[in-house]
Amino acid sequence: MTIQTIYTYEEDVLRQKAQPVETFDEELRSLVDDMIETMRVAPGVGLAAPQIGVSKQVIVVEFGDEDDEAVPEQLFVVVNPEIVGQSKDTVVGIEGCLSVPGFVGEVARAQVVTVRGQDQHGKKVKIRAQGWLARIFQHEIDHVNGVLYTDRAGQIWKPDHEETDTI
Ligand code: NI
Repeated sequence: MTIQTIYTYEEDVLRQKAQPVETFDEELRSLVDDMIETMRVAPGVGLAAPQIGVSKQVIVVEFGDEDDEAVPEQLFVVVNPEIVGQSKDTVVGIEGCLSVPGFVGEVARAQVVTVRGQDQHGKKVKIRAQGWLARIFQHEIDHVNGVLYTDRAGQIWKPDHEETDTI
C-alpha cells in the first residue's frame, strides 16, 4: 500500500467523468488499497480515484454513525458506483473536501440514497445509506462524475477551525 498525493481542484482529472472499470484485477485491488491508506492518513471519511489522479470510477468510504460513537466504522469499496434511488427529502450540511483544502461549504443532499456498484472483486453491491453516510456517498459519486461540492454549495467559506469531517 502506498500513500498517494491528493490532487486538488485545479487538476483536470477532477473535472472529467472517470472511466468505468471493466477488469477486476490486481491493479484495481492495488488502487483500492492505496485509496484506503490515503483516505485514512489524510484523514478523510471518503475518497474517489480521481483525487489521486486516476480517472476510474472507484470510491472508498469509511464512516461510523454521526450520532453514536459506539457504532464501529464501516469500510465500503464501490466500483462503478451509481445512485439508483434517493429520497425527495434533502438536508443541508457543511462539507469539506480533501481536494479543496481549507474551505467548507453548505450543500443540500438527499437524506437517503441507494447506491449500486461492485466491490473490488467484481461482486455486485447495493447499499442504502442515510444522513451523513448518504452525504458521503453523494459527494464521492460526484467526484467520479467530475463534480465538486463547490459546484453545488450555496456558500463557501474558510473556517477558523475544523468544523466537519473531510470527504
Ligand atoms: Ni471530496
